[in-house]
Amino acid sequence: MASSNLHIVVVTTLVVVASMHFSTTTAATSYLVGGANGWHLPSNPHHYEEWAKGKKFVKGDQFFFIYKKEEHNVAYVKRKEDFDKCNITAVDYVYKSGGVPSWIFNEVEIVYFICTIHCAKGQKVVIDVKAS
Ligand SMILES: *[C@@H]1O[C@H](CO)[C@@H](O)[C@H](O)[C@H]1NC(C)=O
Repeated sequence: MASSNLHIVVVTTLVVVASMHFSTTTAATSYLVGGANGWHLPSNPHHYEEWAKGKKFVKGDQFFFIYKKEEHNVAYVKRKEDFDKCNITAVDYVYKSGGVPSWIFNEVEIVYFICTIHCAKGQKVVIDVKAS
């Protein structure tokens, strides 16, 4: 069993709110959340805010989180106030199994992702999903 050095990237797609809209004509875009460095502890606490700024996220877009499961996780909270305060108690779901989880949003909504460990240091992002 010499598999300990194998780096197996498991791509897991979690489709949140899986209602399909076949009438849409907008081409979906894939995003690597945070850019090339992925989901990490940023040296600049506004890193993810700046990453999202100027991007227009629309229904059907897919968001990939590349992260080290030993150091981080991908969690979400429903309310802005919990996001702003990094209220870990309010976390609705924590993804910490590694791989490259991704989400597709098929509704107009605002989604708040945090790392429960480093939220206060800026590892948090708002995904504002527009209709088109
Ligand atoms: C944090 O979230 C929990 C669960 O939703 C809530 O009961 C609590 O009041 C929140 N704490 C703060 C400081 O907002």
